[in-house]
Amino acid sequence: MKVGIIGCGNIADIYFSNSQKYFNNFQIVACADIKNEAAKNYAEKYDVEQLSVDQILSNKEIELIINLTIPDVHFEVSKSILESGKHSYSEKPLSIKFEHGEELVNLGNSKGLHVGCAPDTFLGAGIQQAKKLIDSNEIGQINLGSISMGVAGHEIWHPNPDFFYKHGGGPILDMGPYYFTALVNLLGPAKNVFTQSRTVYQKRVVGSGDRQGQEIEVEIPTTLVSQIEFQNGALIDSFFSFDIWKHSKNHIELYGDKGSINIPDPNMFGGDILVCKSKNGDWKNIDTKNNNLGKINIKNNSEKANEPAGIANYRGIGVSETVDAIKKNRLNRCSGELSLHVLDILDSIIKSSKENKKIELRSTIKNLNYFSEDEISNLLK
Ligand SMILES: NC(=O)c1ccc[n+]([C@@H]2O[C@H](COP(=O)([O-])OP(=O)(O)OC[C@H]3O[C@@H](n4cnc5c(N)ncnc54)[C@H](O)[C@@H]3O)[C@@H](O)[C@H]2O)c1
Repeated sequence: MKVGIIGCGNIADIYFSNSQKYFNNFQIVACADIKNEAAKNYAEKYDVEQLSVDQILSNKEIELIINLTIPDVHFEVSKSILESGKHSYSEKPLSIKFEHGEELVNLGNSKGLHVGCAPDTFLGAGIQQAKKLIDSNEIGQINLGSISMGVAGHEIWHPNPDFFYKHGGGPILDMGPYYFTALVNLLGPAKNVFTQSRTVYQKRVVGSGDRQGQEIEVEIPTTLVSQIEFQNGALIDSFFSFDIWKHSKNHIELYGDKGSINIPDPNMFGGDILVCKSKNGDWKNIDTKNNNLGKINIKNNSEKANEPAGIANYRGIGVSETVDAIKKNRLNRCSGELSLHVLDILDSIIKSSKENKKIELRSTIKNLNYFSEDEISNLLK
């Protein structure tokens, strides 16, 4: 399938490079951005056509467009993609408003077009192996759990970090999609949330690029602490923060009535799973580096306690899986429905922190299927 990209910023690079290295069923043939220079850079680097946004939308050969713009415009750009008769696959979150996400899913359904949305990291070996263990009742009924994401702020490395601190940014909308998409895949749909929040620093300083040293006003909460109840009864404590200089907490731990499981970073594709199946016993390590989407392909210089030295990054597998779903006329795994339920969780967390009360979710999602090694192999070069 011929595919285009709208939004040629920071994350676009890995979509271009991974599509050329790993996936056999789609080819990125053109790109566009409101900043001509941004699209030109990638067009030259990856030898694809540079088009204007209008041209890419009206191009007859392109069947699917990947929307890699900033969260605040995901809705309008994805809507224009669907209205032009093309399938849409967006970076996370689906939109910054639940109602807009719902409109996109309905528009896709009414036009017979697929709506896809990142993250696709839950299709990686770390989360899928954990899903296999949980689905086969190795940990028993999951009753409790804890998730944690804490960083000092993306302005340390991102040259244009403004959107992280404005309406539509913040740690929940930015990083929540990885954790909640993984959790919904492991536990099923969520039911309600309760959240309290803080804004620890009122200003941030751009740490790299042309704008290094410039100050950004913080307009939103930068730490959100929540309790989330799932439909299966599991109660999860959730911590998301851009205010943490360093920590040693695990990403996701789930506690069942037959044991505990420690799940690797849901923002990555591989990593080690730890399982303990006796009270106060030892962890058993299950590595995923021999799985298709667990093989280490990037060296990581992070010194964080919960990040390994090598990581697996197969961003774009969600596009490949969506293309396969379009060809086979089935629902894609990174579906609009899934990302809408995740957006409901994110939106409700923010709403709960503003209103200081428990919020019942508006949406649900049916069982999500394990992504087998055979299915993955069929999509890889
Ligand atoms: N940077 C990362 O590591 C990372 C990782 C995972 C996901 N994401 C997600 O990817 C998306 C993009 O992030 P980024 O870091 O690449 O941002 P970025 O600011 O570097 O790039 C966004 C690009 O979109 C363009 N753009 C904005 N509005 C547009 C419009 N209406 N039409 C066409 N182009 C438009 C901008 O000119 C810019 O080039 C975000 O949703 C983010 O959450 C980023």
